[in-house]
Amino acid sequence: MANQLNHRVLKYRVGTRVLHWAHAVSFVALVVTGIFLYLSPLSFLAIDSWSRVIHRGAAILFMLAPAIYLVASWRASWASVKEALTWTTDDLGWVAAAPGYYFLGDESRMPPQDHINTGQKLWYLILLVSGTLLALTGVLMWWLKAVLPAAVFQWSVFVHDIYFIVVLSMFFVHVYLSVLHPLMRQHGGAFGSMVGGTVSVDYARTHHAKWYRRMAESEQVIEPEPAPARVGVAAMENK
Ligand code: HEM
Repeated sequence: MANQLNHRVLKYRVGTRVLHWAHAVSFVALVVTGIFLYLSPLSFLAIDSWSRVIHRGAAILFMLAPAIYLVASWRASWASVKEALTWTTDDLGWVAAAPGYYFLGDESRMPPQDHINTGQKLWYLILLVSGTLLALTGVLMWWLKAVLPAAVFQWSVFVHDIYFIVVLSMFFVHVYLSVLHPLMRQHGGAFGSMVGGTVSVDYARTHHAKWYRRMAESEQVIEPEPAPARVGVAAMENK
């Protein structure tokens, strides 16, 4: 039975991982340069507008990466939107049990989760809404400043700033819950899934039981490579 750390299950395909890290890099650059533009005591760091140039370059990567992914993998894009929008009673159970689980380690009331858990669905939906609003207001301020009525421009600044704060707060929650929280680091953790694509069978079974059941039933568990034959030792043993 596949129950060891070295039996793996594919969680994220290569395109998803490339999109994720393109987003992560551009997001961090956007946050750092955005803070220079947002907080006036730090505006001296934006001297010569280099931070403005980086902010705009990173914004292009942040918008272009999902656009390319959408065209190249429209089926996978639609599947992940559908996944985030599909809620069952287990998701409501997760919302009720999550504080006890994450703060007190009480797993007894946690309902089984699918490929992504309810918290991840929420993060995905927050990103979908906030990312679209940030991109839209950013484009308005960048390309249409000269023709926009002053009130529309002011509203764009306001909405951009509010969603910047929302996404930044949720970003810290995302990194803490997906990488640093002790319960998320059990059985090899989830970080490897965004690097090599896979999680251990133990991790999949304990954190994403519904998804794991489907993967096991359709025989999508990756067995470890057999250990290389120890030629030298075998030759010695035959003597
Ligand atoms: C440098 C910081 C980041 C780290 C270390 C990180 C780490 C991770 C990890 C380990 C996962 C897999 C979690 C799992 O499947 O259990 C993940 C998933 C994901 N990440 Fe990130 N991430 C970062 C930044 C971002 C940013 C900036 C975004 C969006 C702009 C993002 C969006 C997502 C999404 C949508 C998923 C899939 C759903 C989920 O697992 O929440 N991540 N990330």
